[in-house]
Amino acid sequence: GLKIVTIGGGSSYTPELVEGFIKRHHELPIKELWLVDIEEGKEKLEIVGAMAQRMVKAAGIECEVYLTLDRQKALKDADFVTTQLRVGHMEARIKDEMIPMKYGLIGQETNGAGGMLKAFRTIPVILEIVEEMKLFCPKAWLINFTNPAGMVTEAVLRYGMWEKVIGLCNVPIVAIKNESALLEKKESDLFFKFAGINHLHWHKIYQHDGQNITRQAINKLYGPDAKPEKIVANIKNMRFLHEQLTQLEMLPCPYHRYYYMTDAMIQEEIEEAQGEGTRGQVVKRLEESLFELYKDPNLDHKPVELEKRGGAYYSDAACEIINSIYNNKGTQMVVSTRNQGAISDLPAESAIEITSVITAHGAEPIHFGSFPPAQRGLLQLMKSMEELTIEAAVTGDYGTALQAFISNPLVQSGDSAKALLDELLDAHREYLPQF
Ligand code: G6P
Ligand code: MN
Ligand code: MN
Repeated sequence: GLKIVTIGGGSSYTPELVEGFIKRHHELPIKELWLVDIEEGKEKLEIVGAMAQRMVKAAGIECEVYLTLDRQKALKDADFVTTQLRVGHMEARIKDEMIPMKYGLIGQETNGAGGMLKAFRTIPVILEIVEEMKLFCPKAWLINFTNPAGMVTEAVLRYGMWEKVIGLCNVPIVAIKNESALLEKKESDLFFKFAGINHLHWHKIYQHDGQNITRQAINKLYGPDAKPEKIVANIKNMRFLHEQLTQLEMLPCPYHRYYYMTDAMIQEEIEEAQGEGTRGQVVKRLEESLFELYKDPNLDHKPVELEKRGGAYYSDAACEIINSIYNNKGTQMVVSTRNQGAISDLPAESAIEITSVITAHGAEPIHFGSFPPAQRGLLQLMKSMEELTIEAAVTGDYGTALQAFISNPLVQSGDSAKALLDELLDAHREYLPQF
């Protein structure tokens, strides 16, 4: 049987994951699921862990759920390790959102200055986990959900020297589901071709007769008669400029709003912060109510309230990738993996997010080629910014961090970039030993 280890097991998302494993138990014989967390997360781990144990019991499957604070013990002989940790918890996210806003900039979990700080806090911890995997489970796969998922994946490849890693995000799944429904087609009757980097990818849609129907989807989603599109819960559904997307001939991801309509998104963030609070503040309250539900000893299935989180369907991605690797299924999925020339505009060693074929040896990206100028410039700029951010996260070099800030299109350059960087480094000092 399989042994799965989930680091950050005390997360409110854990019931999603457990539900996904239960659904696939006939193909994916998981015998042990180890939920790991740190001392500060002990109480949450115990609550959600007990809930996971009830879910497994109610499903009548043969699987033992272990709860532990001992990461190395958990990693011993694991087959798959999933990471869903949040260094500094929700408080750190809220700082990433609030501080850039003071400078009139986008304050967001994975974009702009906040996303870079999240990378600085997270990458060293993930690389530590990779070193432990080398010792305790050298054959295991690392399935990373921790944001910024693309940069984390690239850090593991470039600095962790660990090949068996796949980064995951639910954004492509949400788009595939929503757009198939909108086009009144079955998902399996369409081919979605995604390429780009995490939270900054574009896609085309084809029918099985080869016809490209992307234009149709652009019109339905953003044309004059468009109905509001369903997107991930954490991003405001601001309408993209129809003429711009017509020129692109590809569908952007929801996060492109931060780059294509920056002013409106900043305005939106300010209004939200003054009303219900930043997304992090909203999610913090949501998590508190979820944990209240999880405490109920009679609850043994995932509550619908969890769907208010941005990570809907994430378990489908995580569980399906494990299933596809374990059973060598050849499934097509959109994942963060090494480029290897699939996107010719980016370095071969970069992590990209792309439609890939998943087999026992991992992800095989489907060739994309080169982007036209509308996408190429932004993509290359953002990848350079990511490379600098990862390097700064690993080395703690201040100049590199500043360079990363100045190259980010969502950060003002010059003195203002430096002031923002200094304030953020200071605010997060306790989680940034490398600086
Ligand atoms: C989307 C993104 C995830 C992100 C989540 C945030 O689903 O793909 O990477 O973690 O939103 O959701 P939240 O409910 O925490 O705002
Ligand atoms: Mn994501
Ligand atoms: Mn800039």
